[in-house]
Amino acid sequence: MTTATAQAHPNIALIKYWGKSDEAMSLPATGSLSLTLDIFPTTTTVEVDEALTADVFELNGTVRDDDAARRVSTFLDLVRAQAGTTAHARVTSTNTVPTGAGLASSASGFAALAVAASAAYGLDLDEAGLSRLARRGSGSASRSIIPNVALWTEGDDATSYAREVPAPTIAMVVVTLDAGVKHVSSRVAMRRTIETSPFFPAWVTSTRTSLDEMVAACAAGDFTRIGELTEANALRMHATMQGAEPAIRYLSPASIALFDRVVALRAEGIDAYATADAGPNVAVICPPADAERVAAALRETTDALPGVNASVLVAGPGPGAHLVDRAGGAA
Ligand code: ADP
Ligand code: DP6
Ligand code: CO
Repeated sequence: MTTATAQAHPNIALIKYWGKSDEAMSLPATGSLSLTLDIFPTTTTVEVDEALTADVFELNGTVRDDDAARRVSTFLDLVRAQAGTTAHARVTSTNTVPTGAGLASSASGFAALAVAASAAYGLDLDEAGLSRLARRGSGSASRSIIPNVALWTEGDDATSYAREVPAPTIAMVVVTLDAGVKHVSSRVAMRRTIETSPFFPAWVTSTRTSLDEMVAACAAGDFTRIGELTEANALRMHATMQGAEPAIRYLSPASIALFDRVVALRAEGIDAYATADAGPNVAVICPPADAERVAAALRETTDALPGVNASVLVAGPGPGAHLVDRAGGAA
């Protein structure tokens, strides 16, 4: 029996991945760029056990026998094929990020699983190989292998992986408005967007242009341009999916109130810009020196909203996925 434990953090994209060019290989329609966070780690242990007749997946203390378990097994099949074995595994994972809420649990989840499973099955993968593997579990997981700011390029199976790119230090204030599971998963929602939204072709062309500009703005340390591109790309992604049939709308009135507050903060001279993934929760980027002030303003906004019980956390750039001991310390 061989065991390995890994930890990975979620990442929030500044230029989003929304749509695949190849579902089976999990290749994206466009490249994307994200910030790996230093909060909300996922810790995953993989025990390869010849005595098991099937894989076992336990998430946050509950053994799963559903799509989430099948997704883990399908992923382990890829690892087993590369390792040349049919042995099953027991996978035990703990998310500190809300699962399926639009805060990138699939990213931290499959990045941790890629690192733990490849070690437990004896694969010797470099960072690019781990990113390619994690991509097959969830596209965004390719970027959680990488620390700080990650660029995941479009391409084929061999060339579509994430790597770190130079960028200024970015703080991210994460506002959890609703930790519940979204009604439509990212996977299903992006499929429906491609099939039915007339805006999808424009999303692809505009995102490609914005990504090139974003890489240049990151290299130049131009925080204002990074922010402008981030907020525009997020709103374009949500507009594109709202053009689907039936429409997909993840943003709630509280999300919109936060976007409005961020516009007001800019009028006060703070370089803050909002984004949101496939869920109502909002993340705001700003220079690290302004993060506490931004967090206080966003708390004030959510406190004034009836029926909203939000949590506001300040995050910074986080580490890439890595092996740890079972208790979560460095391996
Ligand atoms: P999110 O916004 O949280 O990324 P998604 O719809 O993209 O939401 O993905 C949620 C799915 O990711 C879960 O239903 C489950 O299948 C998978 N997932 C989440 N956390 C883990 C984990 N720790 N290990 C394996 N799979 C996970
Ligand atoms: C809105 O990576 O969760 O967060 O590849 O089907 O697992 P699958 O989808 P996923 O999609 C993430 C979408 C997003 C934007 C982003 O993270 O770039
Ligand atoms: Co996801």
